[in-house]
Amino acid sequence: MVKISFLGTGLMGIPMAQRLVDGNELIAYNRTASKLTALTGARIADDPGQAIDHGDFIFLMLSDAAAIHSTLTPHLNRLSGKTIVQMGTIAPEESRELEKLVQQAQAEYLEAPVLGSIPEATSGTLLIMGGASATNWERALPLLETLGAATYIGTVGSAAALKLALNQMIGALTIGFAQSLSYLAAQEVDYSKFMEILRVSALYAPTFDKKLNRMVERNYANPNFPTKHLEKDLRLFANSAQPLGLNLAALDGLRAVVAQSIAAGWADGDYSAVLEGLKIDQEN
Ligand SMILES: NC(=O)c1ccc[n+]([C@@H]2O[C@H](COP(=O)([O-])OP(=O)(O)OC[C@H]3O[C@@H](n4cnc5c(N)ncnc54)[C@H](OP(=O)(O)O)[C@@H]3O)[C@@H](O)[C@H]2O)c1
Repeated sequence: MVKISFLGTGLMGIPMAQRLVDGNELIAYNRTASKLTALTGARIADDPGQAIDHGDFIFLMLSDAAAIHSTLTPHLNRLSGKTIVQMGTIAPEESRELEKLVQQAQAEYLEAPVLGSIPEATSGTLLIMGGASATNWERALPLLETLGAATYIGTVGSAAALKLALNQMIGALTIGFAQSLSYLAAQEVDYSKFMEILRVSALYAPTFDKKLNRMVERNYANPNFPTKHLEKDLRLFANSAQPLGLNLAALDGLRAVVAQSIAAGWADGDYSAVLEGLKIDQEN
């Protein structure tokens, strides 16, 4: 029975915290308290400090580094002896900075970002990437394994970088697919024929079929992964890659499409709404 504090019960945090409740003593905190009603069997904290005091492990599943700083940083003096498990998608540079802060507070830090969404979080089949010292990784591993398959990548920052590399591909693949669907619609070519050929080709990725119906029906409700988080991840990738001297021309294009989708009102919609960012005339 491990004492766990879980900060951030948004779309992913709820199913992840729910899995960790089993066999452990979990207390959860969320800025918007109403979201915590979806969690069963956990204690609820009124403020982050109360949550942090309870746990030996502090799980973070917050939007971004700013959310982490506003939730955790005012309570650094409560962290001594605890292990922070940061599971949201942030930049490697941000993760290393957090590690320093946490270490100065006499606590341990590891990053464990995830690939997979609400269904995988619910079934415990997330792909978890570890950036940590070997000791911290071993310490957190039994808990992480209740959430999915955990792979050690390297020191803090390496798993965050790997996660951004994967999410850059979410942008590229999804926007590429949406671009082809938009083109075929304009050419009045049946998309089902396109899918028939695509599915048996080397170009196929399972994500295409996952997003097809949403794009055809232009239905972006009840997102698993909102467009605003894809925008964040592409921005973090760009900020992290730019000083490394990479040519970001293709990424700039992807970001412009996502920005247009957000300007059209789809920040909180499913990221298949990138299709809307490809339209010249938003009215059509
Ligand atoms: N959804 C996915 O499929 C998926 C998959 C892999 C990784 N991720 C990553 O995992 C993280 C969480 O994703 P999610 O989909 O669960 O996001 P979400 O539903 O938007 O939840 C974000 C969480 O962060 C909190 N938060 C945001 N800004 C805050 C602030 N300034 N102060 C305090 N709390 C703040 C939110 O609190 P409120 O409820 O009060 O807004 C909520 O608990 C993100 O980094 C995301 O990129 C998501």
